[in-house]
Amino acid sequence: MFETKLTRLLKIRYPIFQAPMAGGPTTPELVAAVSNAGGLGNLGAGYLTPEQLRSTIHMIRQLTDQPFGVNLFVPEQPIESEEAIDQMTAYLNQYRIELGIATNPLLPKFSESFEEQVQVLLEEKISVFSFTFGIPPHDVIQAMKERGTVIIGTATTVEEAKCLEVAGVDAVVAQGSEAGGHRGTFLKNNSDAQIGTIALVPQIVDHVSIPVIASGGIMDGRGLVASLTLGAAAIQMGTAFLACPESGAHATYKQKILSANEDATEITRVYSGKAARGIRTKFINDMHHYSGTIPAYPIQNAMTRDIRQAAAKSNNPEYLSLWAGQGLRLANDGSAAAIVKQTIDQAYVLVKAMEKTLQEEG
Ligand SMILES: Cc1cc2nc3c(=O)[nH]c(=O)nc-3n(C[C@H](O)[C@H](O)[C@H](O)COP(=O)(O)O)c2cc1C
Repeated sequence: MFETKLTRLLKIRYPIFQAPMAGGPTTPELVAAVSNAGGLGNLGAGYLTPEQLRSTIHMIRQLTDQPFGVNLFVPEQPIESEEAIDQMTAYLNQYRIELGIATNPLLPKFSESFEEQVQVLLEEKISVFSFTFGIPPHDVIQAMKERGTVIIGTATTVEEAKCLEVAGVDAVVAQGSEAGGHRGTFLKNNSDAQIGTIALVPQIVDHVSIPVIASGGIMDGRGLVASLTLGAAAIQMGTAFLACPESGAHATYKQKILSANEDATEITRVYSGKAARGIRTKFINDMHHYSGTIPAYPIQNAMTRDIRQAAAKSNNPEYLSLWAGQGLRLANDGSAAAIVKQTIDQAYVLVKAMEKTLQEEG
């Protein structure tokens, strides 16, 4: 019943994508469990070294023979003043002292080499390549196409979706403002693009001819039916999978996901320098009073990494980045396979009930 253009293209059973979530949640077990359950598991590989990326792909392949996707961050070349960096380093020292780690650390590496990550994906001939934060160079898209890889970009506005289509992607994720994690916004004039999923999806559907994947605040079968009704060919759910046993999210983070309400999140740049939606923490609240400039992504991301790692070790959620969408109350800790199954079963019941109502009325 839920076959779409995308399920046929990707050779998957259900139009349900588990969102790529870089930074740990999308373990090989989670990706494989979703693909084995008939959806599309996606590895968030933006922060992985080329070696980690290759070995993780091999681990997933040991757990599933079904298609899965790998997601990267399109790189940015930030320019930041030394003054802003020095001021931030000094400010962050208060947290380092509190967490018992070294103050004034040397600036770490900002990000992994996109070119080397892409090289691994080309060698591994992955089924699906998705990306966010921009559009990869033409030769990357071309090389992926030559290997038969399905390419999926991320848009937060109609304009971005149109640019992605022109660049040659096979499908586009329409990321609404409810979404957890980083905003995929990449056109500079759209820097504040915060269009809700229900408004964004049909507008993108009307302006591109490639399949659209609805994302942001979708947590169950109701969200699936609504998205298909809006013209989407699949859904991508992140927060819905964060608390499941296969997710690699920290235990304290999972507890927060399971106990927080729909109004617990905000969009903030304080952890990484790029707008992202997460559960409010002491760190976010403190940073509202920071008078300096927050260094651009990925500099700020690298600068707060030692603090986030120390917070994880001491089970302190207040300094962790607790990325999450607005559908929080609908999250549960069922297995990944159960989440896929519940979503499909609920959608099926809803569609049948709608058919019945229409027949009775007609
Ligand atoms: C913890 C977390 C990490 C994320 N990391 C990525 C990522 O690496 N790449 C990406 O394209 N999207 C990432 N996203 C955004 C998701 O692709 C998706 O847009 C979002 O999860 C949808 O909203 P929802 O969380 O309400 O389902 C992340 C989301 C979360 C919650």
